[in-house]
Amino acid sequence: MAAQGPKHFATTILRQIGRRGTGRPTACQHCLFCSRRLHTSAPRASTGRPGASASKPPAPSRRHFQARAAPVSLLVGGGLVASFLAHSHFAEDAPKLEPVSCAPTDYRDPSLPRYRLADIRRHDASSPEPWVTFEDKVYDITDWVAAHPGGDVILRAAGASIEPYWNIFTIHKAPHVREILQQYQIGFIDAADLGPDGLPAAETIEDPFVNDPVRDPRLITHTAKPRNAEPPHEELDRTFLTPNGLFYIRHHMWVPVVDEAKASEHRLTIELPDGDVKEYTLEDLKTRFPIHKVTAVLQCSGNRRNDMTRHAGKTNGLQWGVGAISNAEWEGVRLSDVLADAGLKVRDATLPTRKGSAIDFGDDEVDANHLHVQFAGLEAYGASIPLAKAVDPRGDVLLAFGMNGETLPRDHGFPLRAVVPGHVAARSVKWLSKIAVSDEESTSQWQRRDYKSFGPNEGANPDWDRAPAIQEMPITSAITNVWVGDDVRRGRAPWMGSSSSSSSSNQPTNRPPTDQTSRIPDMAAVSKRIGLTRKQPPSSHSFPCPTNTPADERIALQGYAYSGGGRPIARVDVSLDGGKTWDQAELVNDCAQAGGTAPCFGNKAWAWQRWRYVGKLPVLSLPSSSSSPSIQDQDQASSPARCHDSRNGTGPTQQQQPKPCTTLVVKATDDAYNTQPERHRGIYNVRGNLATAWHRVKICPQCTDNGDGKGLTWSTGETFGCGFRRESRGGDGGDGGDGGDEEAGR
Ligand code: MTE
Repeated sequence: MAAQGPKHFATTILRQIGRRGTGRPTACQHCLFCSRRLHTSAPRASTGRPGASASKPPAPSRRHFQARAAPVSLLVGGGLVASFLAHSHFAEDAPKLEPVSCAPTDYRDPSLPRYRLADIRRHDASSPEPWVTFEDKVYDITDWVAAHPGGDVILRAAGASIEPYWNIFTIHKAPHVREILQQYQIGFIDAADLGPDGLPAAETIEDPFVNDPVRDPRLITHTAKPRNAEPPHEELDRTFLTPNGLFYIRHHMWVPVVDEAKASEHRLTIELPDGDVKEYTLEDLKTRFPIHKVTAVLQCSGNRRNDMTRHAGKTNGLQWGVGAISNAEWEGVRLSDVLADAGLKVRDATLPTRKGSAIDFGDDEVDANHLHVQFAGLEAYGASIPLAKAVDPRGDVLLAFGMNGETLPRDHGFPLRAVVPGHVAARSVKWLSKIAVSDEESTSQWQRRDYKSFGPNEGANPDWDRAPAIQEMPITSAITNVWVGDDVRRGRAPWMGSSSSSSSSNQPTNRPPTDQTSRIPDMAAVSKRIGLTRKQPPSSHSFPCPTNTPADERIALQGYAYSGGGRPIARVDVSLDGGKTWDQAELVNDCAQAGGTAPCFGNKAWAWQRWRYVGKLPVLSLPSSSSSPSIQDQDQASSPARCHDSRNGTGPTQQQQPKPCTTLVVKATDDAYNTQPERHRGIYNVRGNLATAWHRVKICPQCTDNGDGKGLTWSTGETFGCGFRRESRGGDGGDGGDGGDEEAGR
């Protein structure tokens, strides 16, 4: 929401007096101060708004206006006594009011009129004077709509309660928003329309999400309306380009409906700093400008927020795992080409400077360093980027209409979106309908508040205005898949190939990307992973179990690394023991330029860097029977330790046994030697943005039946971490001494 400071209350009230509503105030509901019916026959005061029709029901009487002025003086003068006197005076000074039989419960401000719901409904989106209700109050939002960047959206609530919309736009539930709304109060809902709880019956509102697209059921949904979803970690980077149906979704509202048949007529308005406005249809863009492709990640600033919450404290926002990031090949036209065509002339910063003489720039040229490009979506979302990025010839900012060789899907901005590679995805505005080159950033809440980060000292009340809006993204990485023990032996991580032997050492090696990894089979072939407790049929067997995990047990990991600004990933470091010792992962050569198969488009490294790693798991003690007091354990109290069958939860209970765990860690470094912070505590911010600390995944191997009837094998039963299964606090019996927990030392 736009920053809109509260106006002076008295001024507001006076303004309201001048723009009386058009609904019919009804009998004052009998309260201490008011037991008479207000006259309603006075002519309606004009609002001065075009179309404010005379055919509307009459406005409150002058008497009413006088009555309303009372609380103004109260506020100015202050004090309850003054309030009482003022109201008493009004009551005494109202000989023309007819007594009515009121219910004795309406103690609400008698100076404000009451409106029936039927009257309120007439002030819907088509009315020149839209009203909304909140709880039992009525607001004329005519002026507010005009001043609010998302005003058109709020019109959906007009004529009824705003509450269902605030349930969607939860940011509006903040006290300061109520204060703003308060300025627009014109009355109360008539008590005749209120239930015993003093509120109107809940209205069934038109579901604004009714036309949202059908989504892939594999997506992990954080909120359904609006849809916010991430691919499961095992699907996330299985392929270099995330399939369209699995690409993470981050919506603030519903998906606007654009008729496919008329998509080519979709209009993009471009406003230049001098006020010139140009308009392009999608067809214009496709036919008049060269078409470019860019292979680029989009990443939400809240990616891995759940990690920050778990390790550093409460954060506000969707608790994303590792999947608020995806990679795609975008197709469209360059924003810089379209801006130039629209008439924007930008000073050429590449011209040589001469000592003692300034370069003569044309008067009509603008300085890219001081301007912003504001984007607006069809559903009122807005954000901006510096003009310098928009016109950077190597910046690759696209107005995109294609994604991974297909028409841009509705969830990702059909028919047109901005794609700003290297920047936070919040700036890649979907359903793009307007661009304005301006001397200020977008005034939207998504530019001015939501997508910022703060110092850990700022707590819950950061200085929103002082912090810059997030643009280029910092470096991050994540583990997305883990295989261990039997899964590795059985080749369930087929990309290991023969290079695995050279990868199995825990000793640091400087391992450049290999061609071999580019021939890695697609992870789609992998059927099983550790990291998830497998669903297996119940069994009451118990099996002999070794006391330790094998000394040469293999483990395989995969994941992604990414740095903003087009900075390539130089190195990915992996630790299998919580950060005590490190090795380097193999960087997958996905891009054809590096020997891979995917043609990576664009001037810089906008795509993610997938990586693989095969190593040896540190030796871990498996739980011994003596550590559990359970009856089952007593039955198994002989050596070797008995291994419980995790399939039915029998055997030593997980709560009672210390788990043998180790923490897997990944961190990446880009070619500017930026690297990730070790812990989230040092980068904590209440919004949970830019949660980029080392990614840790704890694995806790269990001795289990392999299910093939051939006796014992063991594999990892559980994997905890951001994007994986969530670890229950206090219930897992410790971290196995891996020392790598982010919270260690707390
Ligand atoms: N554009 C519009 N019009 N509406 C939105 O809600 N969300 C932004 C950005 N562009 C958004 C938008 C945010 S916060 C993100 S992270 C990305 O879109 C998500 O893009 P995606 O849903 O295609 O992954």
